Amino acid sequence: MTDPASERRRMAAALVRRGDLKSHWLRAAVESVPREQFLRPGVFLDEGRSWRPLTVAGTDPDEWLKIAYSVDTLTTQLDGHLTADRTGAPVVGVPTSSSTDPATVVGMIEALDLAAGHRVLEIGTGTGYSTALMCHYLGEDNVTTIEVDAQVAARADAALETVGFSTWTVTGDGLLGHPYRAPYDRVIATCAVRRIPYAWIRQTKPGGIVLGTVGSWPWGTGLAKLAVSDDGTAEGAIVGRSSFMQARAQAVAPVAGDLSARTAFADSERVALVSPLVLKEWMPAFLAQLAAPGAQFVRATRSDGSPSRYLFDPERESFAEFIADGGSWTVRQGGPVALWDDIERSLVTWHGAGVPDVDAIRLRVTMTSHLYWIDRNPALRWEHRLVRPGAGSLPRRLRPGDAWLPS
Ligand SMILES: C[S@@+](CC[C@H](N)C(=O)[O-])C[C@H]1O[C@@H](n2cnc3c(N)ncnc32)[C@H](O)[C@@H]1O
Repeated sequence: MTDPASERRRMAAALVRRGDLKSHWLRAAVESVPREQFLRPGVFLDEGRSWRPLTVAGTDPDEWLKIAYSVDTLTTQLDGHLTADRTGAPVVGVPTSSSTDPATVVGMIEALDLAAGHRVLEIGTGTGYSTALMCHYLGEDNVTTIEVDAQVAARADAALETVGFSTWTVTGDGLLGHPYRAPYDRVIATCAVRRIPYAWIRQTKPGGIVLGTVGSWPWGTGLAKLAVSDDGTAEGAIVGRSSFMQARAQAVAPVAGDLSARTAFADSERVALVSPLVLKEWMPAFLAQLAAPGAQFVRATRSDGSPSRYLFDPERESFAEFIADGGSWTVRQGGPVALWDDIERSLVTWHGAGVPDVDAIRLRVTMTSHLYWIDRNPALRWEHRLVRPGAGSLPRRLRPGDAWLPS
């Protein structure tokens, strides 16, 4: 019979060896919190094209412990509703909740620079495992966790109770934070966001830290670590690569349907100076999202079997289509924004600057904007404004006398 406590010690030692786990208190938490309790009723194992359901009830206890203490992400929900106990056969679906791999979990908690007495807000409870690790050190009253999915939140709450933590498990949209228990010393998000919601900064004490993954592609996303200032802004850096499922309200529907109809009329056509294939690499993908926030990258095959690539920005009604042409690519662009012109300019400048990695990127967040930059290079500076520049003051509030109702 496998002993769960020795499995926990084995996993903790492996995380120490990898360099992910450094703090004594976090090692004690990993050695104490039973991850298997957070995987009920079961998990989906990735089989390439489908997911194989595995329930705790239907699995040999030793095998179950082996899975629970693997340093892997374990998917616990597909398509926003399906759990492993609801299907007997492998299924196709998109992961919508999981227990993140323990290396990433402890790496992020280490990056929070936690100290005893800190109050933490976690966005994306998932299974509750990462919540439990923080409760172990900080105490259940100092940890508030928000999960958007009511079923997921209920399961996490039950698991946390089982292992002895009656923490604040809130069901709701974490993009709004949780003002009722603010201010927090630390905010940590375990789902990705297109931009850091200002609510997280507003709800963090000056000197506090906000940690979350920014970007909207499944790759090319980065972990932002920001320190909050007295003036209500936050500044910091992208401290590394990071990949998480997108916050639900911000998840973009994949561009589908007849792509040739969407790109039928182009405003310009030229030879691309940079191959769109670079976008499969992490840093170029991150830069593309900085230069053209809102753009989605689509890979497809044309009817003659040749590859094609697209960028679509549905909000700004713009596209770029790439057509393989011998050893080069032709780019056709349409709509008010020449997406590839903007992205290509950033990529060329980045290349000329010696291809700095993602951790060279700085980020400053205010109530109305995100400013990203690399060094002092004006061509490696991207500002995303929530409010149109020069928009002036907000419109006058409506008053009762403005009411207009059909009689
Ligand atoms: C990768 S899982 C979290 C993993 C978790 N920290 C753990 O250790 O098990 C991401 C979770 O974020 C949740 N989520 C997505 N969008 C959210 C939102 N807007 N607010 C709160 N939770 C959200 C998902 O439902 C999912 O359960």
